[in-house]
Amino acid sequence: MHDSRETLLTKAFVTGFPVKHSRSPKIHNHWLKEFGIAGDYSAVEVAPDDFAAFIAGVKSGASGFSGGNVTIPHKEKAFQLADQPDELALELGAANTLYRRDGQLFATNTDGYGFLANLDDRAPGWDSTKRQALVLGAGGASRAIIQALRDRGFAEIHVINRTHVKAQELADRFGERVHAAGMDALSERLSGADLFVNTTSLGMDESDAPDIDFSIMASGALVTDIVYVPLETPFLAKAKEQGLRTADGLGMLLHQAVPGFELWFGKRPIVTEELRSLILADI
Ligand code: ATR
Repeated sequence: MHDSRETLLTKAFVTGFPVKHSRSPKIHNHWLKEFGIAGDYSAVEVAPDDFAAFIAGVKSGASGFSGGNVTIPHKEKAFQLADQPDELALELGAANTLYRRDGQLFATNTDGYGFLANLDDRAPGWDSTKRQALVLGAGGASRAIIQALRDRGFAEIHVINRTHVKAQELADRFGERVHAAGMDALSERLSGADLFVNTTSLGMDESDAPDIDFSIMASGALVTDIVYVPLETPFLAKAKEQGLRTADGLGMLLHQAVPGFELWFGKRPIVTEELRSLILADI
């Protein structure tokens, strides 16, 4: 006999390896409580070798999940195993959000949405010119951000990475408005940028604070970092010292969760100061 309360409970997961550090359960369970929804969102650690079996259980409905979030190292595999990846996931070759509909597993990627929504929220009007963006780093997060900036209509997006070939791959992937440059071009690109995004872990510690001359940036430029521990990274602190506008990266985490919550639980949540404080208390 099924427990009727159990059948009514909508369940979603975040899976990664490891996944203990994930703050997503706190975010989603806060919203579940706020809406009074009978639901549950929990972290499920799955080793790479077990990931295909885990997804099979989600697809068939056997595990009882409506869907969930996928984090490192499963984002590429999640995209490959989904029946219906959307255009964003297809172009990125990676998914962070999965949901079941009619026995099929759909996949999307909400990282780029989260990135833009955070800037819209923290720095209103930031994209008024949409001329040039400079993105430091060429990993998974950088990829989603470049896609989002291109789709938002930026005229030029420059990518600079320690390993140049990875920046070049992104430029080739995302089309003619995206250009790769070497570290030696950093100063030149900085001076023309309206937006500067750090997607690397550079500068998480005071000890490896990046050697970047923010004084050459245009006075109205916006600087943002996707790292949010600490909230004000040395990278952002240096930009602020030069009087530049800055936006921290915590909101990217909070906003990327919004579309998933709506897909699984049917309500669109709002990122409030209360939620920011709740998550900040853990940082
Ligand atoms: P994420 O998913 O967060 O983007 P990732 O895919 O591992 O993480 O990418 C990390 C990015 O940070 C890469 O662009 C990496 O540069 P390389 O491609 O040269 O490895 C960059 N990065 C990490 N540590 C760095 C450092 N100390 N100096 C410069 N770049 C660094």
